[in-house]
Amino acid sequence: MRWLLAVIVLIRCCGLAAAAETAQRLIAPDALRPGTDYVSASLRAQQKDDDLNPGMLWVDQGRAIFERDCAKCHAAPRGLTVKLPKLTDNGDVVTLERAINTCQTTRVKQTAYAYESQPLLALTTFLAFSSRGMTHTLSSNVTQSLAWVRAQAEYTRIQGKLDFSCRSCHDQLYGKRIRTQTISQGHGVGFPAYRVEWQTLGSLNRRLRACFFGMETTVPDASDPILADLELYLAWRAQGLPLEAPAVRR
Ligand code: HEC
Ligand code: HEC
Repeated sequence: MRWLLAVIVLIRCCGLAAAAETAQRLIAPDALRPGTDYVSASLRAQQKDDDLNPGMLWVDQGRAIFERDCAKCHAAPRGLTVKLPKLTDNGDVVTLERAINTCQTTRVKQTAYAYESQPLLALTTFLAFSSRGMTHTLSSNVTQSLAWVRAQAEYTRIQGKLDFSCRSCHDQLYGKRIRTQTISQGHGVGFPAYRVEWQTLGSLNRRLRACFFGMETTVPDASDPILADLELYLAWRAQGLPLEAPAVRR
């Protein structure tokens, strides 16, 4: 437990330094590593082999929905996700889920899909998979947006019974073990991902809520805009890392 105390002291002092920091990424571009590098060799092998990766079931379902409802306008699914999350003119964040639901309601003219519903997970996973190997290309002024500023504040805010911030774990302790898992750099590029703990596939939104739960703090609702802000922030932090959904995680 003594290391934990040391860590908490470290985090408290670094938290102050972080407040004065500008739009600089803490992890240098050549030090960026996907979450896949921190899972067991067997999960990594499962992820790499499309015949073994359970997420491919969602890819196949998503492809069928896409061909039925979307392909008449979107000839090529590849690249459709890379500019997302993006900002609207009034500063809101459009996640992949939200972009799909905009087309679903205004262009396919059907009702919106619920968060974590099977068809929405299928479509997001298919589209993310279709952009595998590409990287996020966010607009250059993203760090000047209020959404980014809100997300940076949330990402660095020490909260919960454990006195941790997102940054404490994912920028300062990555590579270290916590309970049964090795902490990664906390990138979203593998999502939607199949998690053994969930026994199913889930969105980045769900993964983020799991981290709030782990911090023993208030868990935001799936529709809380702070989660979309954080997705934008995470994409900015991860710029340069190839997209690799569907990942396989513990
Ligand atoms: C107490 C440590 C801790 C804190 C604090 C924490 N997380 Fe995590 N997070 C984890 C662990 C453990 C995992 C699962 C293993 C890993 O890091 O990929 C995880 C996974 C993730 C992942 C998925 C990475 C992947 O490739 O599967 C993302 C993204 C993430 N966290 C973001 C956040 C954000 C944003 C916050 C703040 C709201 C946060 N985390 C707070 C420990 C933490
Ligand atoms: C009637 C034509 C039409 C249909 C049907 C349609 N879309 Fe779209 N979609 C568009 C147009 C037009 C845009 C806007 C392009 C832009 O804003 O740059 C768009 C934008 C998108 C975007 C955002 C891309 C970005 O970078 O902002 C995604 C993701 C998307 N559609 C997915 C889908 C999915 C999934 C379906 C099926 C459920 C679908 N679309 C059905 C025409 C359509």
